[in-house]
Amino acid sequence: MKIALLGAAGGIGQALAFLLKMQLPAHSILSLYDVSPVTPGVAVDLRHIPTAVSVIGYSGPDPTEALQDADIVLVAAGVPRKPGMERNDLFKINAMITQSLLQQIAQTAPLACIGIITNPLNSLVPLAAEVLKQAQVYDWRKLFGITTLDLTRATTFIAELKGCDPRTITLPIIGGHSEQTILPLFSQLPHLTFSDSEIAALTQRIQQAGTEVVQAKAGYGSATLAMAYAGAQFALKLIHALQGEPQVEVTAYVDSEAPYSRFFCHPLLLGSEGIAQRQPIGPLSPDEQQALEQLLPTLKTDIQWGQSYGVNNVVDVKRFASV
Ligand code: LMR
Repeated sequence: MKIALLGAAGGIGQALAFLLKMQLPAHSILSLYDVSPVTPGVAVDLRHIPTAVSVIGYSGPDPTEALQDADIVLVAAGVPRKPGMERNDLFKINAMITQSLLQQIAQTAPLACIGIITNPLNSLVPLAAEVLKQAQVYDWRKLFGITTLDLTRATTFIAELKGCDPRTITLPIIGGHSEQTILPLFSQLPHLTFSDSEIAALTQRIQQAGTEVVQAKAGYGSATLAMAYAGAQFALKLIHALQGEPQVEVTAYVDSEAPYSRFFCHPLLLGSEGIAQRQPIGPLSPDEQQALEQLLPTLKTDIQWGQSYGVNNVVDVKRFASV
């Protein structure tokens, strides 16, 4: 199994590369790419850790070599937000970067599963789908917006509040990945009881957790370590499914058939080709139903933004920064 990580020299990229070096199945190949000249050195550094995972690093304007024969491509390249910014404020710069990288992936690794980390996720996953469609290699089963961080945070915050073991908590989260579109479904956690004010406070904390980190980092970036943890959790599950493990479940922001929006954060069943099945989101409480209806116009606008950029901009920009 070969995993290519684009944006590997950044804050998320280096931490994610480290976790993958430690946790990938034996004999995997971890291919690191970033424009930054430090990238081959990051690979050398990781190679000194005694696990049976090969690491190769590439830098410069062209990711082709890094992408060759990749089974999975993780895209963490892009610019992080600063205090006062929303994820959508990153659209212009990160759309250009994502579009360029997706064009390269379409050319060199058209069969790979692709996991997007770069923000604004709500728009960049639809943009990625358009780029792949233009290259005639789009397979909806293989494109994921990685939203595992929202579930990770929800688990942590609930375990802190209730004093319970985080491993016993699986809170479904649907919608998208922005303050206005993340929708946790507390009605589907039957073994824990929450007051209305607890639900309101936890929902707000989960929706604003990215901003909490951006503010705490005071202009020096957004979440990198927890994002890397979440990205690694997602990638490992995907690898297990691609290798034939049955019943692997994840939640991710994907091309959707649901009546809600064209892309939507779903519970999924994975298989050896990527998504095997989109799972139903289950019954919603009246408050959750109302919150879903309220978030959909925002999510649809975000999707439209990414789709029209993907359709209308044919650029070939190989220059990008790292998170
Ligand atoms: C997060 O949720 O931490 C990421 O989407 C980064 C950000 O800008 O909030």
